Amino acid sequence: VTAEKAGYDHFMLKEIHEQPKAYRDTMGSRLDPSGKKVVLNEVGMTPQQIKAIRHVHIVACGTAYHAGLVGKSVIEKLARIPVETDVASEYRYRAPIITPETLVIVVSQSGETADTLAALREAKRCGARVLAITNVVGSSVAREADDVITTWAGPEIAVASTKAYTSQLIAFYLLGLYLAQTLGSQDDAYIAEVIAELKELPEKVERILAQSEAIKNVAEQIATHDNLFFIGRGLDYAVALEGSLKLKEISYIHSEAYAAGELKHGTLALIEEGIPVIALATQEDLFEKTVSNIKEVTARGAHVFGIHSEGHYELAKAVDEVFAIPATLPLLTPALSVVPLQLLSYYASLARGNDVDKPRNLAKSVTVE
Ligand code: G6P
Repeated sequence: VTAEKAGYDHFMLKEIHEQPKAYRDTMGSRLDPSGKKVVLNEVGMTPQQIKAIRHVHIVACGTAYHAGLVGKSVIEKLARIPVETDVASEYRYRAPIITPETLVIVVSQSGETADTLAALREAKRCGARVLAITNVVGSSVAREADDVITTWAGPEIAVASTKAYTSQLIAFYLLGLYLAQTLGSQDDAYIAEVIAELKELPEKVERILAQSEAIKNVAEQIATHDNLFFIGRGLDYAVALEGSLKLKEISYIHSEAYAAGELKHGTLALIEEGIPVIALATQEDLFEKTVSNIKEVTARGAHVFGIHSEGHYELAKAVDEVFAIPATLPLLTPALSVVPLQLLSYYASLARGNDVDKPRNLAKSVTVE
């Protein structure tokens, strides 16, 4: 078993460390050697069909849903098509407006989640084209979808998803760029810039992993608490949701992820002396606003652990502890900022003596609705 874990104590830690490879493999031959465009031969839609898309629905469960929240921002920003992201178990029951001009994207690591599969079938019944993002070739979702973008993360064993989630983000970046270059919604120079930055992500993840010890120290403090908050704006909010889910899944510490600007509309009542708050502030255009929200919690005694991008050292003045992720384009930060949160969950679970890879009550793949 140790051999399977390649010397790591747990599959989760091994899989966290496999992310640079998963990024490289998922990008792989999909980046044209010219560095100027994305090649997605697996997407069978013609340019005419892509131009006919009026709206995109992203449907998924759990961690894959959180990848879909990032996917919404990515597609809207790059392709300028309106996108909605839904939890699969809710989607069918809200009478979603699905037409042949809807592209439905289902995201599933396993490709076997019953809720997601049911949503896929409903979308097809309504005449939508369905594109799947999945990690398992030949899975039910892969077989039933019209187009499949495989994430090449390799087998994921730990129940808490890490490399599958980040590979799904890479798939969304590739898809967003592919749609943009087909629609002409972004200029060539910007597309080339995003591609160049994408290529640098694996090495930047390695730099984060090299600082695991700093995260471990924070995790050990957090492990003594029963409640905490994650806050962030924009893409940082989507990542906050995933960080909070990861922590709950394996450490059993209750946390809530909040859009930073929404705290003052209620949840601020729960901020009391000593409560840990993990604040993400990687989005340049939202930085000042996020710092104001951080001050609202520090003024009430919260102990804030901030995550920012290198170069934005002003955050250090507003928080108790900081962790810097390497600088990248704002759109790409989720592929970096989630990594310290994965490590935080891992080390908090470990400090609490939990079964990291097999949390209670959860299954890797849920095949009942
Ligand atoms: C289960 C797992 C979650 C996962 C979700 C969706 O509930 O415990 O970690 O995110 O299913 O799985 P999928 O395979 O569809 O991505």
